[in-house]
Amino acid sequence: MWIEVPTQPTIAITKWVPSMAPFLLKHLNGDAGSAVTRFLRNKIPQPYEQKDADDFIAHCSEEKLFTSYAIVLLNTSDSNSNGDNNSQNILAAIGSIGLVFNDPTDIEAHVAELGYWLAQEYWGRGIMSAVVGAFIKNFAAPLSISHHRADVPLRKIYAYAAIENKGSCKVLELNGFVQEGLLKQYAWKRGEYHDCAVYAFFFKPVLK
Ligand SMILES: CC(C)(COP(=O)(O)OP(=O)(O)OC[C@H]1O[C@@H](n2cnc3c(N)ncnc32)[C@H](O)[C@@H]1OP(=O)(O)O)[C@@H](O)C(=O)NCCC(=O)NCCS
Repeated sequence: MWIEVPTQPTIAITKWVPSMAPFLLKHLNGDAGSAVTRFLRNKIPQPYEQKDADDFIAHCSEEKLFTSYAIVLLNTSDSNSNGDNNSQNILAAIGSIGLVFNDPTDIEAHVAELGYWLAQEYWGRGIMSAVVGAFIKNFAAPLSISHHRADVPLRKIYAYAAIENKGSCKVLELNGFVQEGLLKQYAWKRGEYHDCAVYAFFFKPVLK
């Protein structure tokens, strides 16, 4: 998969590959890693070790119910640009975006959960707003027509955001997600409870 995102700097969404593991270790450790994972599930442990990165990349398969892609920074200078081989233009992996699908035989097969993170040094430049928009348009929307993981097409994407995570709430709202509810004390992280907003995006308008 290769989705170019209209941002400055130039970003793309593509497959995680083993050579990107050092970027996971860099962005998910130390103070910056602590900031990135402040509201994230504990499946991204702290500290984040080589085995965690290797296992994560090995599990990022399009065939599985959990699918995640790398957000990569591109070198677009003329001397290095090579339109025939996108991967040669990758300077760094700077984040992740993915969907968790439900059991394809069960009643929530048409629903998937969105998750994402961006390396702290790139926050506040409009990158994730653009990445989420491009991911929904190019990756998720085709599944709303034909969903190879289930008999029923993808109809709804949801995301949880701690209400203190203003940036994430805004990213979702800018991309057409609406808040469906508020789950009080839903998350417990680093000794604190967090109320979480549930946001949803529908590929078709809600039936009245
Ligand atoms: C949440 C996160 C993805 C936002 O990414 P980002 O690229 O910095 O977001 P953007 O720059 O696209 O900002 C989107 C909007 O949110 C606003 N925003 C961003 N961070 C904010 C903050 N901390 N407080 C208030 N508003 C914020 C921006 O101003 C922008 O609004 P605008 O377009 O009206 O100016 C990023 O901070 C991150 O990876 N956090 C850690 C992981 C995480 O929390 N993931 C989400 C789990 S639900």
